[in-house]
Amino acid sequence: MQNPFIMDHPLIQHKISLLRDKHTGSKEFRELVSEIAMLMCYEATRDLPLTEVEIQTPIATAKSKILSGQKLAFIPILRAGLGMVDGVMKLVPAAKIGHIGIYRDPDTKQAVEYFAKFPTDIANRTVILLDPMLATGVTAVDAIAQIKKRNVLDIKFMCIIAAPEGLKAVQEAHPDVQIYCAVVDEKLNEHAYIVPGLGDAGDRIFGTK
Ligand code: URA
Repeated sequence: MQNPFIMDHPLIQHKISLLRDKHTGSKEFRELVSEIAMLMCYEATRDLPLTEVEIQTPIATAKSKILSGQKLAFIPILRAGLGMVDGVMKLVPAAKIGHIGIYRDPDTKQAVEYFAKFPTDIANRTVILLDPMLATGVTAVDAIAQIKKRNVLDIKFMCIIAAPEGLKAVQEAHPDVQIYCAVVDEKLNEHAYIVPGLGDAGDRIFGTK
């Protein structure tokens, strides 16, 4: 599979155009982030292993398939990643959810972790890390390192918009992590915002600006 895997499905691309629009209000923005996350999750779970079972239908016995192997955990990076949680949970309601709070210190440019709570059995799960924006990559690189410290072997990272700088940082630090994104933008500006991007995803999701 290509890494990053770009999800250029027309429905996703259409919804991203609505997301980018500065006239889109918080309610619609939140709904769009959730819908895009659900569509992306559909594709990001394409390689989940299946096992064959026999099911008794009202008519006959059917050979059918169910999910097998590792269970899933979603880990949103606070706070914007929270906006993706209900979309992905609609598709995989049995998944567990961890949380990680990290920000990039504007002076030191280093990651500062202020919160982490993961499912106790996380080492036995496939983890999909969620953040709508991959900008410098500092927080994603650190979040993945924190998850690896818990002995997780299969980690995927799902973002909606990525900057080339962030993709490079994650791929250099964690070449084993499959990245899914919907679009790669042009660059970062001097404040580490993605250009053209969509502004501050957290502020737009939670209406804090
Ligand atoms: N985080 C955001 O919310 N937006 C950006 O453009 C970059 C990081």
